Order: sequence, then structure tokens, then C-alpha cells
Amino acid sequence: MRNNLSNIKKCRYYLNRNECIGIPTETVYGLAANAYSHQAVSKIFKLKKRTKKNPLIVHYVNLKDLNRDCYLNNYFFKLYKKFCPGPITFILELKKNSKIAKNVTNNKNTLGVRFPRHSTTQKLLRSLSYPLAAPSANVSKKISPVSKEDVKDEFGRQIKYILEGGRSKIGIESTIISLLGKPQILRLGGIEVKQINKVLGIKLKYNKNSKKVVSPGQEKIHYSPEIPIRLNVKMSKKGEAFILIKKRKLYCKSFFYLSKNNNLKESAKNLYKTLRLIKKLNFKKIAVEKIPNKEFGQVIYDRLVRASNFK
Ligand code: TXA
Ligand code: MG
Repeated sequence: MRNNLSNIKKCRYYLNRNECIGIPTETVYGLAANAYSHQAVSKIFKLKKRTKKNPLIVHYVNLKDLNRDCYLNNYFFKLYKKFCPGPITFILELKKNSKIAKNVTNNKNTLGVRFPRHSTTQKLLRSLSYPLAAPSANVSKKISPVSKEDVKDEFGRQIKYILEGGRSKIGIESTIISLLGKPQILRLGGIEVKQINKVLGIKLKYNKNSKKVVSPGQEKIHYSPEIPIRLNVKMSKKGEAFILIKKRKLYCKSFFYLSKNNNLKESAKNLYKTLRLIKKLNFKKIAVEKIPNKEFGQVIYDRLVRASNFK
């Protein structure tokens, strides 16, 4: 490949040859491959060490392309109009004649789809003749990446190229909503459930114990820095990294603030970065203060509970 090619052309070079690349999105960085190519998609599973049973979400840049692959309904159009492009993933019914590779969906007839807001990735998608399957660009169960460096941290030289896109603005994954029948929230994320309810005029609640609709990736252990985590802690113990939502006047090296002024959205954005930093600094234990059970506090808590299931 010529070195003077533009970034987008470099991406296309690798993607067209069925390779995986790192791409920026407003939520977290993704590990992307041609969603129409079985061979390319199988590389994602291998790199991530992800079970084949856990389907991938597919990224689009326009409705026309999505309409070729999935059946769209009224719930979808309402939410699309309000939130897309943006941090929301829809589970839809896959069309029989869709070109989506069978290993994207684990042979099922449903597909997770998303319209990312990041302009560089939108530009890339516009230049391709296929959509991109892209899970978060981390090894399964580990911390999601929010910068190019984080993706390098996860995969090193195993991936050929990472598209630079700066730090992810939201820093936490998309909200997932199933639109197969009655809408159901499968994962908390970048769009608050309250906002979705407002648009749909219904009252959805996230039920993490729901056994009816399963999002295979919502495992108990996930997003983990592989360090024991204690939650709802008033004061940390010696040797623990102490994560706080709000900046306070505590002078100690092992305090990590998620936000300057108690802002939950900012805290969510800084969560993965902070966990990765704590791991790099070689702390062996983490304590976290009580997280408010509202707005983005719920997403932060959800991620920390899964991260803390590490033994
Ligand atoms: O913000 C995001 O959504 C990021 C960026 C890169 O777009 N992607 C992401 O992908 O978080 P991943 O694979 O790490 O998480 C997607 C989740 C998984 O838990 C998977 O099980 C679930 O979506 N999922 C995918 N397809 C599904 C389907 N057809 N039915 C139910 N759940 C599905
Ligand atoms: Mg993930």
C-alpha cells in the first residue's frame, strides 16, 4: 500500500481485503470489518476472542442501505428521526435476501444496527459499498476503548490499521433497544431511557434480570480491568485506587475523579479512561464511592457492577 494515501483510502484498502481495522465512534472505538463478508467477520471474533454466539452490530450511514437488510417499523422511524446519527442501537428483523454474512448474527434472523455520529467514520462508510460490522474494539470482557491508543493497547500489531478520530465524545456504549414486537431496552447506554420514552410515548424500563429477551453480550462479567472492585464505598482502604464522581479537596495520589463538578454525563465519559489508567498504574484494588441512581449514574453503575464481577 502506498504511504501517501488518505486515511479513508487506507481504511478501504484493508477493508476491501477482508481485514479488520479500528474505527472511532462517538461512543467507543469499534473493531470493524465488511459486514457482507464471512471471512472478514470471522476475523473480528478471532481477534476479540469472542464467542460466535454473541452477534455483532452493524454500522450504516444511510437509511437506503439499511432498508435493504432489515424490516423497518414505526417505532424505528420515530427513534431514528430523533436520535440518529447517535448512540442508539436497534434490534430489527433481518430480511431473508439481506447480504449480511451469517456469522454476524449467529445465523439468527435479527440484526443490531447503528448510525454512528462520528464524522470521519461517516465519511468512511459513505465511501464503501457495504456496511461495517463493529463490536467495541477490546478483547472480550475487557475495558472498552475510547481512543486510538486504547485500541493499540488491546490489540497491538494484530490489527493493520486504526483510523484516528480523537477521544470518543460519549465514552460509553450505545443504548440497545429491541424493536421486535414491543420495544425493550437491552442495554443502558448513551441515550437515556427517559428520552426514548418521551419519543415513543410509552414507559419502558430497563430490567437487567429480564429472561425474556436476551442480549447475549450482556454477560455478568464485562468491561473489566481485571482488578477487584468494591462498590458503594465511603472511604477507601490503603492501597486501593478510589474512584469518585465529584472532585473534592482530598489530597492523595490514589483518588480518581470522574468529573470536576458532579456531572454524571462527564463521569460516564471518563469511566473507561480512568479504569484503564488505574490498571496501568498497577493498582491491585479499586474502591468506588456511591453512584447516584439517576441519569447517567445508572449506566456507570451498570458497567461497574459487571466490571466488579471479576474474581
Ligand atoms: O456503542 C456501541 O454500540 C459500540 C460501537 C463500536 O458502535 N459497539 C458495541 O458493540 O458496543 P458490542 O459488540 O461490544 O456490543 C453490542 C451488544 C452485544 O452485547 C451483543 O450481544 C448485542 O449488542 N447484540 C448484537 N446483535 C444483537 C441481536 N441481534 N439481538 C440482541 N442483542 C444483540
Ligand atoms: Mg463491547
